[in-house]
Amino acid sequence: MIKNNWYAVLKSKDVKKNEVVGVTRLNKKLAFFREDNGKLNCAMDVCAHRGASLGKGRVENNCIKCPFHGIEYKRDGTCTRVPLEGLSSDADYSRLNLIHFHVREINDIVYFWYGDGDPVDQPDYFEEVIDMEYSGLVDHWNVHYSRIIENQLDVTHLPFVHHNAIGRGNKI
Ligand code: FES
Repeated sequence: MIKNNWYAVLKSKDVKKNEVVGVTRLNKKLAFFREDNGKLNCAMDVCAHRGASLGKGRVENNCIKCPFHGIEYKRDGTCTRVPLEGLSSDADYSRLNLIHFHVREINDIVYFWYGDGDPVDQPDYFEEVIDMEYSGLVDHWNVHYSRIIENQLDVTHLPFVHHNAIGRGNKI
């Protein structure tokens, strides 16, 4: 991947309130969840305690709650509660903080910051997506993403490889 860029990774409607969505994007296991106010958050889908999938967890107290021992993490990955320590414990749980990621939502598309540190800018997008209704298309190709981009930009192969389909009529 090209570092320090935003990548479209999900449709906003894929992450509903009160549920955690675990997905693999950009070779990372990610867990998405919303707070009560609808704000979207993203953390590594690996609990800092014993590695359980947070994508199988739930949302409680505006936090993501691990399904294994119930540890809770808030939006910035801070570990806020460890049930086995007791609810009144004031122990330092910082060693359990999660890796979290920056995300933005623009016109029902979720953008993920793949970079070092904080984003240096906002997601770049075509103005046209603001006005159009984005229905989305999911199409899995079992190749490196750079091959897909290269293929989609290479229109000159159409009359040869796809001469009897989308390249019909493009005589060269
Ligand atoms: S593995 Fe997540 S709380 Fe133990």
